[in-house]
Amino acid sequence: MRNKLLMIGMLMSACLNLFGQQTKSFFPEKNLTTVGAYYYPEHWDESQWERDLKKMAELGFEFTHFGEFAWAQLEPEEGKYDFSWLDKAIELSAKYNLKVVLCTTTATPPVWLTRSHPEILLKNENGTYYDHGARQHASFTNTFYREYSLKIIHELGKRYGNDPRVIGWQLDNEPGVRQDFNDEALKRFRLFLRNKYDNDINKLNKAWGTAFWSQIYPDFEMINFPRPSHWGQNPHQLLDWRRFYAHEAATFLDEQALVLKKYCKNQWITSNYIPNYEEGHIGKSKEFDFYTYTRYMVYGDPGIGKFGFRIGDPMRIPFANDFFRPVSGMYGVMELQPGQVNWGTLNSQPYPGAIRLWLWSVFAGGSDLTCTYRFRQPLYGDEQFHQAIIGPDGVTTSRGGLEFVQFINEIDKLRKTYKPGKALPRDYLKRKTGILYNHENAWSISKRPLTYKWNFENHVQKYYKPLKSFGAPVDIIYEGKSWKEYPVLIAPAYEMVDDSLITEWKNYAEQGGHLILTCRTGIKDRMSQLFELPLGGKIYPLIGGTTDFYDLLPDNHPGTVKMDGKIYKWSVWGDILTPYKGTEVWANYDSDYYAGKPAVLHNKVGKGSITYIGVESENGELEKDVLKRIYSLYKASVMNLPEGVWMEYRDGFGIAVNYSSDTFSFPLPANTDIIIGEQDIKPAGVLVWKY
Ligand code: GAL
Repeated sequence: MRNKLLMIGMLMSACLNLFGQQTKSFFPEKNLTTVGAYYYPEHWDESQWERDLKKMAELGFEFTHFGEFAWAQLEPEEGKYDFSWLDKAIELSAKYNLKVVLCTTTATPPVWLTRSHPEILLKNENGTYYDHGARQHASFTNTFYREYSLKIIHELGKRYGNDPRVIGWQLDNEPGVRQDFNDEALKRFRLFLRNKYDNDINKLNKAWGTAFWSQIYPDFEMINFPRPSHWGQNPHQLLDWRRFYAHEAATFLDEQALVLKKYCKNQWITSNYIPNYEEGHIGKSKEFDFYTYTRYMVYGDPGIGKFGFRIGDPMRIPFANDFFRPVSGMYGVMELQPGQVNWGTLNSQPYPGAIRLWLWSVFAGGSDLTCTYRFRQPLYGDEQFHQAIIGPDGVTTSRGGLEFVQFINEIDKLRKTYKPGKALPRDYLKRKTGILYNHENAWSISKRPLTYKWNFENHVQKYYKPLKSFGAPVDIIYEGKSWKEYPVLIAPAYEMVDDSLITEWKNYAEQGGHLILTCRTGIKDRMSQLFELPLGGKIYPLIGGTTDFYDLLPDNHPGTVKMDGKIYKWSVWGDILTPYKGTEVWANYDSDYYAGKPAVLHNKVGKGSITYIGVESENGELEKDVLKRIYSLYKASVMNLPEGVWMEYRDGFGIAVNYSSDTFSFPLPANTDIIIGEQDIKPAGVLVWKY
């Protein structure tokens, strides 16, 4: 069995590599990256298109992006298509050497469709419907809407699939998980469950624990969506329901991709996701060449330091880079904020240089493309006041536009000195870390957080942030990927496990890996049912100890933990542990009636180790110090970058960025060849050097 699993793992990683390589061929390595901008011909007078596209090319953009909201213009009447305007826009783009990304139009069904088939409109839990007049108002869980969508996608594919001016496709727009309470959605939900449980209602009853509160279902047709109640909901039903919606989003996009693939020659297929990691559909469409994300940085988030609200959260881009890249070995950003937006809680001016900083941040993670929403600032519609590369007069380049131009010119400089085949520095690779992520753990925990202080994302960030301050390359990965390339693997709050995962964890450590498990790990099966064991019993052999109990503290009563004489405050979660003989205790509780009991255990396993961090500290310092200790175990060097500063290497270049409000002097080796910026990196500054 183990051999079989190993072979499957090897095969999967071989496929992934192949997949990554194939995808790479769409983007010549010598170009490093390419920059584009959204343009909406349908929003402007035809007489202006040429002027605008010419200007886009003159500014240095290399591709444009058309059509994701133009269903009504492309199919003004059912079955009557009008591609003439898009033909013309593509022709003009080509005239100025702009490649084109085309989109499927499914985010904005036209009114003739919604009026003749109102059943495609999303129905809310309270029975109200979305309606025509905005966007994303149709349901992915409506079979008829899916079929209708595929019709126009066939037409688009037929017309442009073999057009060398079109480089790739974006499916839908920011496709997300959308709950729909229509009958049709319920039908599909029941079918999903029948498939999952082999049409055997007893299996479902067992998985959903329906013996509890007399919930037993005699038939699939009696199942409903989980609805609000006087008290409580079935957690296992909720889990399957969320799985259903993630599946619906992923499969709808796959259906679109399969249609396009009938026609496409040398064109890639992707979509532009909001990095809502917990929605569960990102990375799950099998037919994509790669994944892209959309990112807005200044919208009311405080960031860090006095300029933080103008610079944005320093972890927002790198985390997305590190999440999207491992899915298929490459990634891009389809929308990057070009200036003030109009939808934030506070739409401040970005700090001078911040837009360029974000562009470099995207690049640093290894991306192949960045596009911006949008080229011209709209004069009408819901996105008035949303800045763009060109201002409302249609001709003046905005400050953000100039920062894009600066980045484009700087990339040009890099292209000139680029030499292929440069390997990544060894000390950088030595600290490469995988974070094992599964959104389902977040779902499961969110049903019973047990403390108002629990936040899954914050918990993960308490590990991710120190990794970035160490200058460690990080991949955030799902199960199924080989862990060989990661000397350190962290599985934060990995609540739901099964025996094969436990075995893989053990093998990983035995073969020399350093596994870190954190509180709330290994206590439930994949249906979110507790194991019939002492709490966490599944992982006791791995962590070399037991959990006696957990404690949760209020804001006004934090506890303390001591490690190497240093005191750390905690309150979110604390597992009170007992070590087995031979297991090292790295940290103990220092307060309350369990003072002296272990909070962190370190267990040597084969050639590697398993460390269990049973406590979440208030400021992440404990997690940071434990991580440092693990890297020093196998003599990996780590950096000590201040909050807001991080760095990466790619293609022979080192890139450091500063999101903090203070100047930071970056520790560069003597005689380093600086290409862009200065060693003293100012707030929102960037430093690029050759390594
Ligand atoms: C994105 C969306 C774009 C545009 C943009 C405005 O989320 O995909 O279509 O609305 O926001 O910032």
